[in-house]
Amino acid sequence: MPSDRIIIVGAGIIGLGIGWRLARAGRDVLIFDRDRAGRAASRASAGMLTPLAEVRHEEEALLRLGLKGLEQFPDFVAELESESGFSVGYRPDGVLLVGVTRDDIEYLRYRYDYQRDLGLPVAWLSGGQARAREPQLSPQVGAAVWCPGDHQVDNRLMVKALRAAFLKSGGCLKESTPVETIDVARNRVRGIVAGGKAYPAATIILAAGCWSRLIPGLPGTARPPVRPVRGQILRLQMTEDCTLKTIVWYNRAASSAVAYLCPKDGGRLVLGATSEEMGFNDSLTAGGVFELLRAAWEVVPGIYDLPIIETAAGLRPGSRDDGPILGKTPVRGLIVATGHYRKGILLTPITAYSIAELVLTGKVPEDIRPFGIGRFA
Ligand code: GLY
Repeated sequence: MPSDRIIIVGAGIIGLGIGWRLARAGRDVLIFDRDRAGRAASRASAGMLTPLAEVRHEEEALLRLGLKGLEQFPDFVAELESESGFSVGYRPDGVLLVGVTRDDIEYLRYRYDYQRDLGLPVAWLSGGQARAREPQLSPQVGAAVWCPGDHQVDNRLMVKALRAAFLKSGGCLKESTPVETIDVARNRVRGIVAGGKAYPAATIILAAGCWSRLIPGLPGTARPPVRPVRGQILRLQMTEDCTLKTIVWYNRAASSAVAYLCPKDGGRLVLGATSEEMGFNDSLTAGGVFELLRAAWEVVPGIYDLPIIETAAGLRPGSRDDGPILGKTPVRGLIVATGHYRKGILLTPITAYSIAELVLTGKVPEDIRPFGIGRFA
C-alpha cells in the first residue's frame, strides 16, 4: 500500500522551500540530503534576485517566470520570517550594470535596447550619473544601465529560515543521508532507500540540483538533463573607505569576464562569480579568483584594500536551455524541481508555490507549464 508521505531528495533552498509549503499545508514530508541542508549551490550563491539585469535574448519565458517570482518574494519572505523567527536580509537595492571600454558600452547599449523593447523599467546613465548613484565606481566607467527593480536577499539566512520553518511546520529532515535508490515499479514511485532502509512514499520530488540525474533507480525518461556549472565566489569585508550601496555588475565584453559585487547587511561584499564547465570539480583556482578580482577592481578600485573573509565554489545545476525543469515526469508520483542554473534563489518562491500546488491539487500550474521535462524528450 503506498504511503501518502512525500519524500524530497535534496535539502537545498529549492527542496526546503517546497518542503515548507507542503508541511505547513499539513502533509507528511521527509527531506533527504547527502550533506547538511543548503551546503551546496544555495550556500555558494550571491542571493541576487535580478531578472532585469540577467535578461538574455531568446529567454522571454524565463524572464516572465523570474519577474513573477520576484513579485512573490516580499510575501514569501514576510511569511517565512514570521514563521521561522529569522530575518533573511531582503534588500530592494537595484543593480547598476556598468561598462568601461567601447566594446562594453556597445554591448550594454544592445542589452539596454532589448530591455526597453520588453518594456522593462531600466534607465541609461552616463558615467557621471552612475558615479553620482554609486561613488565607489571607477572614473573609467563610461556608462551604465540602472535596473531599480532588481533586488537581493541573503541566501544563507534564507536557507537557515527555511530549514527552521520546515521543521516547525512538522517536516522531518535527514541530513548526511544520501538516497541510495529511488524505487520505481510499473512506472510508479514506491519510495526510496537510504542508509540501507526503505522509506515508502507515493510522491517523490527530485530537487538535488546538479546531482539530480545521478540518483540510482531513475528511469531514463525521468532523468533531468542537468549538469554542474562551477561558480567561484569571494566574500570581502567593506570598510568606511569602500562601501557599496547597490549591486554593481560588470560584464567585460572583450574577455567575457564577469564580476558582480553585492553589498550585504553587516558590511559583507559578495563578489562573484565564474561560470565554468568543469564537471563535478568544485575547487577554487588561482585563475578564477584572479579574473574575478581583476574585473571587480577595474570597476570598483577601492576593493583592493578590502580583507577577504571567505572563498568558495559551488556547482550550479544547468539545464540544456538554462531554464529550470519543473513538474511531473513520465513516472507517476515522481516530480522534478531542478535545473535552476543561475536563478535558484530568485525562483525559490515560485517553485515552492507551484510544486506544492501541483502536489496538493494534481494540476500543473500555468506558471511552470513551459518548463516541464517533456521539452527535452
Ligand atoms: N545568478 C548569478 C550567478 O549564478 O552567477
